[in-house]
Amino acid sequence: MQTSRAERCGSFLATDLDGTLVGDDQAYASLMAYLKSLPDKVCLAYITGRHFRSVLELIEEKALAWPDFLITDVGTSIRVAPTLTVEKEWQERMRAGWEPEAIRTIGRLIEGLHEQDLPDDIRVSFTVDHERAAYTLKQKLAQAAMPHTFVFSSGSDVDILPEGGGKGEALKYLVSKYTKPDARILVAGDSGNDRAMLASGFPAVIVANAQRELADLPDHPLIFRATQSYAAGILEGWQHFFGTGYDF
Ligand code: GLC
Ligand code: MG
Repeated sequence: MQTSRAERCGSFLATDLDGTLVGDDQAYASLMAYLKSLPDKVCLAYITGRHFRSVLELIEEKALAWPDFLITDVGTSIRVAPTLTVEKEWQERMRAGWEPEAIRTIGRLIEGLHEQDLPDDIRVSFTVDHERAAYTLKQKLAQAAMPHTFVFSSGSDVDILPEGGGKGEALKYLVSKYTKPDARILVAGDSGNDRAMLASGFPAVIVANAQRELADLPDHPLIFRATQSYAAGILEGWQHFFGTGYDF
């Protein structure tokens, strides 16, 4: 599943990992077998909140397919196969005007907020004891007119990203640069950090085991709520949008 810049993707699965592609090993195997059986190669992008090393560990632990694209750290870093080299243009875009230390300083003053220990400071992430801490941080960042993107997931994780970052924006960047204009694209997710990419205007599936925080995404023909969980939900979504066969 390796793609060079020269050959743009005609079919594209952009999926979150934890709670979406990963969670049911058998369903994962069935999904991959199905995608492989299709006549057109399906490019694979993992779009995750994890940092790079943590994704590599998961790929190894679960024997996941090597992706064509890897978006880590909640859409602040993009890597491209075969060697998963960092996409420099995106990196520069994320770094422009980014002031992680100023965000930390604000975060330190808020009770119930704990900074995550991360290898890279292209995002500043916290876990919270209670939702109130997340909303206090949101308020304080707005008061300080600090450019950023605020993401709240699973009732416990808060990610503060550079303005213009996030899974939705990173996905749009990938699609514009690496897919064919008429590509079949499916986006899949299960929690708050997937919200932006699920609502980014591409066919999207919310797996049945998704967090309740996605319940308020609008009913829309491009947002499909699967009845099945994890990778089985992704397969259901693929067939919902593109049919069970391939007619071309
Ligand atoms: C993953 C990451 C964590 C992040 C969370 C929500 O769990 O490991 O750092 O805060 O996703 O995006
Ligand atoms: Mg998830």
